[in-house]
Amino acid sequence: MENSFHGRTMATLSATGNSKVHEGFQPLVGGFTHVPFDNVPAVEALSDNRDIVAILVEPIQGEGGVHVPQKGYLSALRKICDANNWLLMIDEIQTGMGRTGQWFAFQHENITPDVLTLAKALGNGVPIGACIASNRATDVLVPGNHGTTFGGNPLACAAGLAVIEVLKTHNFIPAVAKKGELLLNQFRSTLEGQAGVVAIRGMGYMIGIQIDRPCGELIKTALDKGLLINVTRGDTVRLLPSFVMSQRTNRPACH
Ligand SMILES: Cc1ncc(COP(=O)(O)O)c(C=O)c1O
Repeated sequence: MENSFHGRTMATLSATGNSKVHEGFQPLVGGFTHVPFDNVPAVEALSDNRDIVAILVEPIQGEGGVHVPQKGYLSALRKICDANNWLLMIDEIQTGMGRTGQWFAFQHENITPDVLTLAKALGNGVPIGACIASNRATDVLVPGNHGTTFGGNPLACAAGLAVIEVLKTHNFIPAVAKKGELLLNQFRSTLEGQAGVVAIRGMGYMIGIQIDRPCGELIKTALDKGLLINVTRGDTVRLLPSFVMSQRTNRPACH
């Protein structure tokens, strides 16, 4: 999709719909077609293209500025894939493992992808990534087809399992849904309509506050005050708070 981000290996940066990410890495891996995100007709228009084998999509565009598509977008893509015998590949490297208030963001739409990618919060600091296949994608790669030196190493896998265990036993994910909504509502009620604020977007603990000018320097300003934030796309403050955040209501309002 345009404005997407899928990573920095050659194939994933080629799949990424952002020419800035491509700079300096040409020649790219060929064969990717990009269409606007959250635009079902743009995908439908490719239906007769027999060269297409899969759709790769983020359920919420993270690096692209926290763009949440309209409800029904992923289910519409699922239907198009089924009708065309394409695989639906969902990149949940940023949205997965509870970030949006469900284990995986695709669960908000009750669909199943054929391929799911996970990383980041799967290891919570320990480097681990996973590419999970179901349905028709199960036989595309078989053991030994496409390995990596450290793939499946016991240390990283133990960290992944520990993360899953902790998320489950402490029931963190429903709390992310509940507190995330509260957080988003609070941001909306305090910031919406303020000069310079263009949009407040998000779901669960994935929040983007777009302002009307480049704001990269806010990262350092915030850090100096002991606050970790990120700025993505140059103009969007992105907040991916920790799941252990408590809900304190006795704080003075912060302006
Ligand atoms: C949706 C998505 N996919 C993939 C990646 C990871 O890419 P890499 O580890 O290759 O930098 C990221 C990182 O931000 C991401 O947000």
